[in-house]
Amino acid sequence: MKITIRKATSDDAEHILALLSPYVKKGILLPRSKEEIEKTSDSFTVAIAQKKIIGVVSQYKYNTKLFEIRSLAVNSRHHHKGIGKQLVEHAVNDILQQHRDAKIFCLTYNPSFFKKAGFMAVAKETLPDKIWKDCQYCQHRDNCTETAMVYSLRSRG
Ligand SMILES: CC(C)(COP(=O)(O)OP(=O)(O)OC[C@H]1O[C@@H](n2cnc3c(N)ncnc32)[C@H](O)[C@@H]1OP(=O)(O)O)[C@@H](O)C(=O)NCCC(=O)NCCS
Repeated sequence: MKITIRKATSDDAEHILALLSPYVKKGILLPRSKEEIEKTSDSFTVAIAQKKIIGVVSQYKYNTKLFEIRSLAVNSRHHHKGIGKQLVEHAVNDILQQHRDAKIFCLTYNPSFFKKAGFMAVAKETLPDKIWKDCQYCQHRDNCTETAMVYSLRSRG
């Protein structure tokens, strides 16, 4: 199966929303609105197979030195085919091409996957306070078990 990875456009918003939806319901991903995705579509990267969006990731810019990888999802029928890893690599490379020294982090319930994608676990306290602004929308805000991770080539395992 041929997979194409490309930047999203605002026309992809509906499909991206549908892809995120089951994981939002499970509380694994934070909710995003269609309007938010449309407005920020250039920060989303999608994986396409047979003209369908089967994977997505987004990169959120706090400033030129700090980016977050978030809203990562692959359609469950296509898990374990390397699509999630390709999406994360694409987003990381895109950020580093423009901002060579940027710190790229993620907050995840799946540290094993992100370790394989080149991230290493760090203490949450090492990330700036402003990144916790989204936590108010999370159903796990009072008993958060997410792992904070930072991209580091050395940690790729
Ligand atoms: C996490 C997710 C994006 C992985 O996508 P995927 O396309 O199946 O992952 P890949 O096939 O690219 O896997 C890359 C590597 O990670 C491993 N991996 C994949 N899913 C994993 C998991 N749930 N736990 C541990 N390792 C995992 C794979 O075995 C593979 O290892 P390898 O390189 O040694 O072969 C996908 O399971 C998903 O959409 N999950 C629900 C949403 C989610 O959890 N998002 C991330 C939360 S922040």
